[in-house]
Amino acid sequence: MLKTVLIGAGGIAWKHCEALRKLGVEISGIYDVNPVNAGRLAEAFGCPVVSDPVHAIAGADMVHILTPPSKRWEYVECALAYKKHIFMEKPVAISLEDAQRMELAAKAVPVQFMVGFTQRFRKGYRIIREWLDQGRLGDVVQAYCFRIGPGPGFGGKLNDSWRTAEGYVCGMTIESLSHDIDFLQSLAGRVIQAEGFVKGTVASLPQFDNNVNAALLFEGGGIGSITASWSSHIAFNAKGIIGTRGSVMLKGEDIWDSTCLTAKFEDGTSVCESLDDIFQEGEGYLEENRHFITCIEKNIPVGCDITVGREVLAISRKILDSSIRGR
Ligand SMILES: NC(=O)c1ccc[n+]([C@@H]2O[C@H](COP(=O)([O-])OP(=O)(O)OC[C@H]3O[C@@H](n4cnc5c(N)ncnc54)[C@H](O)[C@@H]3O)[C@@H](O)[C@H]2O)c1
Repeated sequence: MLKTVLIGAGGIAWKHCEALRKLGVEISGIYDVNPVNAGRLAEAFGCPVVSDPVHAIAGADMVHILTPPSKRWEYVECALAYKKHIFMEKPVAISLEDAQRMELAAKAVPVQFMVGFTQRFRKGYRIIREWLDQGRLGDVVQAYCFRIGPGPGFGGKLNDSWRTAEGYVCGMTIESLSHDIDFLQSLAGRVIQAEGFVKGTVASLPQFDNNVNAALLFEGGGIGSITASWSSHIAFNAKGIIGTRGSVMLKGEDIWDSTCLTAKFEDGTSVCESLDDIFQEGEGYLEENRHFITCIEKNIPVGCDITVGREVLAISRKILDSSIRGR
């Protein structure tokens, strides 16, 4: 049985614990700087809390790094020193320097280093991927993500989360857009240009952007856009691809759910499918962990690795920079 140590016992750690339990992975330790969080999770899943993360990592096969994105390097460095596989939540970091440091260090060690781009492991995404591979959609003309809803720092206490806490904050363009950028880039091709306007609604915390409008250009010539908001009173999302031979859209009445898949093809056929969106129950987290374990066992590349994570962060940074420059 493979053993992992969880570093960070907040909201996302619960999803990973559920997934790991279903996959038969032993959680040999849970570490958090906040022992209350670690204790609560450990009790729910019957796992030990550890006070020495280095010792715990040394005794496991892999580590799940689920801390806020600015608090990752010391755990990455430790896991690589002991040659342990790494699963790390997105975004990989806040600064590009941190991300590059991790990527460089990982290159020297023969371990898997997967980044949790959950969207890739949901049913709707997998159908679109298959249609693109089969040529059913043709070449990508346009790809888009429109995702709005109430989010952190909106209508609640500001400093009840690292997302809106000084010293941790990174804003939506880095945190949440990492999902959209990876979704678009992995389907429509590498982004070669990214420009945008970014806006925050919390005057006391200017680093906390919660509204973005971005324009993208893909390597293959397709164009793309991302509109996202964490301060919308209405929640909705629609994302899709307009291709030369067909178009597809995934949508849902929430910022996350994708319960409806619609497609039309040039030959007149169409698809309108209601997806059992079991995302809230953890479909994406289960499948991404299954993928991670399979890649470890079969020694095959994970696909969404630290290099992909660093590239996604670089695009978030480009959007932020262009907004600052007023382009
Ligand atoms: N893939 C997804 O769908 C998804 C969803 C939610 C969150 N996330 C990502 O997961 C990460 C964590 O988010 P969250 O929602 O779980 O946050 P959270 O605030 O709920 O949990 C973070 C936990 O990390 C702990 N922590 C902080 N600094 C630490 C340190 N230096 N060492 C050890 N523990 C530390 C905190 O005490 C807290 O328990 C973020 O990068 C976020 O973007 C991904």
